[in-house]
Amino acid sequence: SAAEKAGYDYFMLKEIAEQPKAVADTLLGRIDASGRLTLDEVRIDAHALREIDKIVIVACGTAFHAGMIAKYAIEHWTRIPCETELASEFRYRDPILDPRTLVVAISQSGETMDTLMALRHAREQGSKVLAICNTNGSTIPRESDAVLYTHAGPEVAVASTKAFLTQLVACYLVALYLGQVRGTKWGDEVSSVVRELSDIAKQVDQVLETMEPVRELARSLKDKNTVLFLGRHVGYPVALEGALKLKELAYMHAEGFAAGELKHGPIALVEDDLPVVVVVPSPRGRSVLHDKIVSNIQEIRARGARTIVIAEEGDETVVPYADHLIRIPATPTLLQPLVATVPLQVFACELATARGNEVDQPRNLAKSVTVE
Ligand code: AGP
Repeated sequence: SAAEKAGYDYFMLKEIAEQPKAVADTLLGRIDASGRLTLDEVRIDAHALREIDKIVIVACGTAFHAGMIAKYAIEHWTRIPCETELASEFRYRDPILDPRTLVVAISQSGETMDTLMALRHAREQGSKVLAICNTNGSTIPRESDAVLYTHAGPEVAVASTKAFLTQLVACYLVALYLGQVRGTKWGDEVSSVVRELSDIAKQVDQVLETMEPVRELARSLKDKNTVLFLGRHVGYPVALEGALKLKELAYMHAEGFAAGELKHGPIALVEDDLPVVVVVPSPRGRSVLHDKIVSNIQEIRARGARTIVIAEEGDETVVPYADHLIRIPATPTLLQPLVATVPLQVFACELATARGNEVDQPRNLAKSVTVE
């Protein structure tokens, strides 16, 4: 009903707007005043956590993209090897699992059959399973050794938005917590990330306040057939997520690529006026990646692409090559997906509306996929 949508035309718009609160709620009570993490719900004892020698993340769809980003954070902050795999592929390839493997299953609904089957398989091999889930008491957390709930509140729209941002927050918390318990990498960098994580809700809010040009741009592209998305490092899964949103909602051909792969094939797709969205890493931090992606933008633009550039506030190097520039606040490199994904959600939602599509209930899709 209209009341449930709190004045918004669609649940998706309401859920996009709720993201700052969802992010803040997911952090609430989990970081103490001294910047230490208190994740009591991770009921896997500290000894077992110190013994872990491999982490495997399993998930589907948008949750899988959160898991891809988690891999960068986990390996960087804990130095534990981590792989992220589509739950539907995982158990069919006889994966190597043992009691020292921590399996992290990410699911908004907690009822996704592929993810459930993957975690059952992992537990049969003696691995511990930690669920990251948004739905209290659902099957996936019930069958896991421990659960870290995301506090996004109910997500009704089929296209996941606020659940994704809170999954990212939960993944960062798990990565930082493992670092804390194991005593690895708990230095200045990590303390400053914890501080910045506490500020991130405000930054998401800031992004939401500047979305009108993104909506305008989306409307102007409503008759296009294809949109490409490029990213690197944690921007690569963000590109995949932007493309998934556009497929689900606008029913357009949308593909995400790792920018470094351009010359290995995808650049052949670039033609005159093809919209290409590029997620630019911060020029601070891993600035090599920043410079490489700026050359990618130049390369595709020289071949006629219409470049839609998502770049940090104050990054002036991209200005000459951006046909459209979308600004996001500066964050630590690993946290950038929390702000960079938001314009892509708004973009897909507005394009879907402009094309006359049903935003909350896209054709052929169900909110949770309870069959394999
Ligand atoms: C996201 O927009 C999708 N509707 C879909 O990919 C979803 O993320 C996936 O089916 C996983 O669902 P879950 O998080 O409930 O397990």
